[in-house]
Amino acid sequence: MTVSPGVIVTMDGPAGTGKSSVAWKLAQRLGLEVLDTGAMYRAAAVVAIDEDVPADDGHALAARIAEEGLVFDWSCRPPRLLLGGRDLTERIRDADVNVVVSVVARQAPLRAALVDAQRIIGHAHPRLVTEGRDQGSVVFPDAAVRFYLDAHPEVRARRRVEQMRSQGRPADYEAVLRAIQQRDHLDETRVDGPLVCPMGAQRIDTSGLTLDHVVQELERCVRSCVSAELLAPPRAVQTA
Ligand code: DC
Repeated sequence: MTVSPGVIVTMDGPAGTGKSSVAWKLAQRLGLEVLDTGAMYRAAAVVAIDEDVPADDGHALAARIAEEGLVFDWSCRPPRLLLGGRDLTERIRDADVNVVVSVVARQAPLRAALVDAQRIIGHAHPRLVTEGRDQGSVVFPDAAVRFYLDAHPEVRARRRVEQMRSQGRPADYEAVLRAIQQRDHLDETRVDGPLVCPMGAQRIDTSGLTLDHVVQELERCVRSCVSAELLAPPRAVQTA
């Protein structure tokens, strides 16, 4: 049997603040697992596109996901995402998914189902860095440490353009900036689980910081808020 005291670190913020990379690196440094909740909304967008379910029918999307089973394979690092046994890890990053996912993420019945699923994951994997838009505000308001990462839209657009060009994809700065601003607006104005800096969360502006600086700063914050004993990896104990 293992003793696994919980340490949940939440990380919210708009697209392009480097949350995924920061969450992954921070989790590695602290010996925690990592949960990408955006991937779950992206999987719902894949259902809408590939299975012809209307993107604004949250009940139908939630029902389809419940039928097929959306699970992470925790034996992989980072975990791969499977829907009904189909590995969606690469598919969820396709351009058509980017277009649909904001609409899908506004649907209250789907959000309720995914929030429940995320809490169940948090229960089964209580040593977790979890990133998204509502992790510190809605899903884990009692988390040990809550972060909100932010950056100016222009900085986020420049980072995205550099990333796309480094992948050999054409990128127009003005179009990318407009898309980021539209997505921020959709994320911030939805009724359910809108993107907000949770009360009491630590807000970090990453505009002028490198990825390594952000990770260092977050690691320092976590180590100052959470005891070394809690952060130590779980130890095996003998049971009678
Ligand atoms: O972080 P991302 O780009 O993979 O997120 C994809 C979409 O899902 C984006 O529109 C924001 C939304 N999302 C959300 O509404 N709540 C979350 N916890 C995570 C992502």
